[in-house]
Amino acid sequence: MTLPLNIVVLAAGQGKRMASRLPKVLQPLAGRPLLAHVLATARALSARHLCVVYGHGGEAVRQRCDAPDIVWALQETQLGTGHAVLTALTLLDLTVPTLVLYGDVPLITANTLRRLLLAAQNGELALLTAWHDDPQGYGRIVRVDGHIRRIVEEKDADDAERAIREVNTGILVAPTAALARWLPALSNGNAQGEYYLTDIVALAAAEGVPIVSSHPDHGWETEGVNDRAQLARLERIHQRNQAEALLAAGVTLLDPARFDLRGELVCAPDVSIDVGCVFAGRVELGEGVSIGPYCVLKDVTVAAGTRIEAFCHLDGARIGAGCRIGPYARLRPGSELADAAHIGNFVEVKNSQIGAGSKANHLAYLGDATVGRGVNIGAGSITCNYDGAHKHRTVIEDGAFIGSDCQLVAPVRVGRDATLGAGTTLTRDAPPGQLTVSRPRQVSLLGWKRPRK
Ligand code: UD1
Ligand code: CA
Repeated sequence: MTLPLNIVVLAAGQGKRMASRLPKVLQPLAGRPLLAHVLATARALSARHLCVVYGHGGEAVRQRCDAPDIVWALQETQLGTGHAVLTALTLLDLTVPTLVLYGDVPLITANTLRRLLLAAQNGELALLTAWHDDPQGYGRIVRVDGHIRRIVEEKDADDAERAIREVNTGILVAPTAALARWLPALSNGNAQGEYYLTDIVALAAAEGVPIVSSHPDHGWETEGVNDRAQLARLERIHQRNQAEALLAAGVTLLDPARFDLRGELVCAPDVSIDVGCVFAGRVELGEGVSIGPYCVLKDVTVAAGTRIEAFCHLDGARIGAGCRIGPYARLRPGSELADAAHIGNFVEVKNSQIGAGSKANHLAYLGDATVGRGVNIGAGSITCNYDGAHKHRTVIEDGAFIGSDCQLVAPVRVGRDATLGAGTTLTRDAPPGQLTVSRPRQVSLLGWKRPRK
C-alpha cells in the first residue's frame, strides 16, 4: 500500500560551513549519510513518489544514495528553496499533495510527519512550525487573528517580525497543483536574492487556500546540520534516542551516554553492554550475552550466554553460545566459533572455524584454519597461512593439542588427538594420536665456560 503523496527532499546545498570535501548531505550521522536518515523516514511513510533535489557534489550524492524508488532532480545552481522545489515539479504527481523535507534535517520522525499530513488532508497548505526562545536565523510565522498569513525570513524581517517566536521549520505539505501555480510566480526580490519557498504562504493566503500548522513532538526533530558542532550535537541526540529505545526493550546499558550504535543492534533478553562500545553494521546478541567495556562489534552474531571481555575488536564473526572472548581478542571476517569456544588475549582469528569447546587463550594467530572440537592451541602458536602469493588452509582435527610456540606451515593437517610439542615447526601432516615434535634435542655442555672480559 502506498500513500497518495509526493515527497521532495531538498539536498542541493553545499554546506560551506562543514569545511569538507564531502557534500553536506553525505556527512555521516551514526555511520550513515544524513540524507540516508531522511530517506529512511520518507520510506516509512510509503509515499507513492520520492524525489531528491540534488546539486552540490551531485554525482557522489546520487551514487551513494541511489535506489529504484528515488527520482533525482538536478538543481544546477542553488537559487533558493522555492526554485529547488520548482526543479522537481515536473517529476511530481499533480493530483496528490507534496511533502517537502530537507536532506540536512536528519532526525525528523515519521510520527510528526504523519500528523502534518493529517492536517493537510483536505487540500490545506500545512506548515510544521515550532516555538523557539531564540528564533534567530529562522523564518517567522506571521499570523493575523491567529491565521497564518505569510512567512518572513530573518533577513527581510522588521523588528516587530523578528520578535515573533513561532518559526518555520521549513517542512511543509502543499497541494501540488497549487505549487504548479505558485512556484513559477515567486520573485527573488528579497534580501538574499533567492526564490523563497516560504513565499508560497502569502500566495496561498491571497487565494484563500486554508493554511494550517502542526508541531514536532520534539525540538530536535527539526534541527538542521550546518556545521560540525551541530552534527556532533545531533549525533549525541540520536545515540541517546537509540540507547533509550534499547533500555526500554530490556537491554542493560551501564551508561547510555557512552554507547554508540552505527547500524542495527538486535538483542535477546538480559543482554548487558558495558561503557564505550561501538556497534556497526548488523549485530545480533543472544540471551544473557555480556559485552565488556570498550569493544567494537561490526556485523557480528553472538549466541546466548557468551561473554565478550573488555577491549575486543570483532568484525564479520559468528560466535556460538557460552563462549568466552577476550580481553583483547580480534575476530576478523569469516571467523566462526562453535559453542563454548575460548579466544583469549591477543589472539587473532580470520576466516576460520573453531569447533565446540576449543581454546586459544593467549597470543595466537589462526588464519584460514579449520579447527575441530576440544582442541587446545598453546600460547604463541600460529598458522603460517600465506606464502607471499597464496593463502593455504590448516586443518586441526578434534582433540588435538598444539603446544606453545608452534608454527603450522599451511597447507598442513594435524590428526585427531595428535599432540605437537612446544616449538614445533610443522611442515608435513602430523599423524593422529601421536606426539610430533620438530625441535632439536636439548643438550647441556659440561665444563662450558661463559666468556669473561
Ligand atoms: C529555510 C527557510 C526558513 C526556515 C529554515 C529552517 C526558506 C526561504 N527559508 O531557511 O524559513 O526557518 O529553512 O531551517 O525556505 N536548498 C536547496 N536548493 C536551494 C536552496 C536550498 O536544495 O537552492 C536546500 C539546502 O540544501 C537546505 C535547505 O534547502 O537543505 C534549506 O536551505 P537553506 O538555504 O539552509 O534555508 P534557510 O536559510 O535555512
Ligand atoms: Ca538551513
